[in-house]
Amino acid sequence: MAISSLYYSTNPIHARRLGAISGLGAEERHGPLAGILGFGAGHLFHSLHQGLAWSMLALVLLHLAGVLVESRLQRENLPLAMITGFKPLREGEAAADSRSRAGLALLMAVAMLLFGAWWLQGYFTQTAERPYLPFAGRALAQDPLWQEECGACHLAYHPSLLPGRSWQRLLENQAAHFGEDLVLDADTVRRLKGYALRHAAERTATEAAWKILHRLPAESTPQRITETPYWKDKHGAIADAVWRQPQVNGRYNCDACHLDAEQGWFEDGAMRIPGGKTAGAISLAPYRLISSAAPGIHQQGSIPGVTR
Ligand code: HEC
Ligand code: HEC
Repeated sequence: MAISSLYYSTNPIHARRLGAISGLGAEERHGPLAGILGFGAGHLFHSLHQGLAWSMLALVLLHLAGVLVESRLQRENLPLAMITGFKPLREGEAAADSRSRAGLALLMAVAMLLFGAWWLQGYFTQTAERPYLPFAGRALAQDPLWQEECGACHLAYHPSLLPGRSWQRLLENQAAHFGEDLVLDADTVRRLKGYALRHAAERTATEAAWKILHRLPAESTPQRITETPYWKDKHGAIADAVWRQPQVNGRYNCDACHLDAEQGWFEDGAMRIPGGKTAGAISLAPYRLISSAAPGIHQQGSIPGVTR
């Protein structure tokens, strides 16, 4: 029957899963394909995934319409039969094996609940001091000198957040650093530059680095991460009031919202907006479980504790 064949049209789901796994592996560097595909491929699969998600929604609507039409045509309540497992016999029809499978159903339900609880346990056991980061990335390079010289007034931004040419210019202009003189001697500048260039956006395989770089016109040498097109895109929906909150106090305080800013990862799982305000369309559901006590932007140094 044409309509019931719709019920089994699961191919888009498989395609979507493939898109999701490839996207995850390439863009987020997680899952079975982590790091095998490049970020460019990841971007492509991400778009594919989105397109298929919309087509899935269309299929869901079609499926529901199919159930309604079939229920009408057959004059029976199909949704009810799906829940109870029983359908009235029609003339000439033999009863199917009617042994109850309640035991099996119960077993499966319990197994699913247990698996779910195990999978999500981190969310239930996290605290404000030890937030749960479901996808903690691989450790990126850190440098004590960089931490010391660049972490005194603000977060020591990971060099992967800007291209090498930006760090070069920033460090060359260190005596006029956004109105501050960093008073660094030539040797310190040289060492900082060496570190920054070795781990700049071009040289680091994180999603943030790739996307910041990829969206940047070749002729632009931004002096701020917050002026890069990707950054502006990602934060455009956040209301002005959020930036002005004392717990945030400006766009450059990445660590007010990104618990893993210091590590340079910027994972989806480590974001939250202090004060319980959400940024419109952004789903921050897991973070509402964390109390709004922000680790404090001026409390420089380390994130108190990050659990995997
Ligand atoms: C004496 C304090 C001080 C030190 C030390 C310092 N900075 Fe800054 N930095 C500032 C100020 C002030 C701003 C501008 C903040 C604002 O937006 O009002 C800034 C902004 C920045 C920004 C732009 C942030 C954005 O908006 O995206 C970068 C990048 C940056 N600093 C890098 C560095 C690096 C690299 C070092 C170490 C070599 C360093 N800073 C050391 C004071 C400092
Ligand atoms: C007021 C809180 C807040 C501050 C401060 C903030 N961000 Fe974000 N950031 C967010 C939110 C919320 C998102 C998620 C946006 C989305 O998914 O649409 C985000 C997304 C991102 C992403 C994309 C992550 C991904 O995988 O999608 C990057 C990279 C990022 N921020 C970097 C930074 C950097 C670098 C700074 C500091 C210069 C910063 N952010 C400051 C709230 C903040």
